[in-house]
Amino acid sequence: KRHLISASDLTRDDAVLVLDTAEEMARFADRPIKKLPTLRGRTIVNLFFEDSTRTRISFEAAAKRLSADVINFSAKGSSVSKGESLKDTALTLEAMGADAVVIRHGESGAPHRLATSGWIGGSVINAGDGTHEHPTQALLDAFTMRRRLVGEEGADLAGKRITIVGDILHSRVARSNVHLLSTLGAHVTLVAPPTLVPFGVESWPCEVSYDLDAVLAKSDAVMMLRVQRERMNAAFFPTEREYARRYGLDGERMARMPDHAIVMHPGPMNRGMEITAQVADSPRCTAVEQVANGVSTRMAVMYLLLGGAEPAVTTHQAPAA
Ligand code: CP
Repeated sequence: KRHLISASDLTRDDAVLVLDTAEEMARFADRPIKKLPTLRGRTIVNLFFEDSTRTRISFEAAAKRLSADVINFSAKGSSVSKGESLKDTALTLEAMGADAVVIRHGESGAPHRLATSGWIGGSVINAGDGTHEHPTQALLDAFTMRRRLVGEEGADLAGKRITIVGDILHSRVARSNVHLLSTLGAHVTLVAPPTLVPFGVESWPCEVSYDLDAVLAKSDAVMMLRVQRERMNAAFFPTEREYARRYGLDGERMARMPDHAIVMHPGPMNRGMEITAQVADSPRCTAVEQVANGVSTRMAVMYLLLGGAEPAVTTHQAPAA
């Protein structure tokens, strides 16, 4: 495969290969010298049209640990603010010889457009597009679950019961996780207020519940999602107090989970809304571990997409004098 656009592009064996490769990468992270020479001479461009902390920094750290040259592009402060299009931005990057472009964009479908347009020759990795997908988040989440709940390389997540709670409607993390977790054999239940469940969810490989208390006791992992106020019409949203009361995870609810069960959050968190500070800071919450696992997982993705390929040669060189 050349690109990673959607979690549903991955077969079970593809996904297990990424998780196993990420385990190998994680072993290097424990050594005094963390760098591998694998992508020496390659150029990775981080193309971020939307804000990010974890994804942008971890892609940068991952590329540097593989010895790639990294160019960080943020739409803020670039010629995008003068109206430059995605196409012209992409052609500019191609002229600089990008071997891979990691793109986050507010529009669902932007990474797919970049991968199929012919504007760039390298690999495209989706780092989150609109409300569509965030496949590397789902991979790092699966890596975290496999480590905590299975502890065996080569394995998938067969039979594990994963509950994803909150703003499913706007969540690219939920969509990618539902696809990847079901591919890996897990049983997924979505829990949300009816106004935050997407149209067409019946065709997703998961169950839907409106009652968090009913599913907690039978969950191996409970993934809390950020309420994305910036993407929603206030009229469709319960009050913050009502949301926290019915769908927030506090210490009392966490105590109803099985002893082995973990609490996950992709970040950034709204403390006091979908998760209390007590739960967020408890040893059962893997939010910080997920960030660390994100570096190994993204190293694995870049290694597998680019490791065997020849370095990109720009076709836009100036003619010899
Ligand atoms: N989980 C995640 O995508 O976080 P950022 O928006 O900070 O990258």
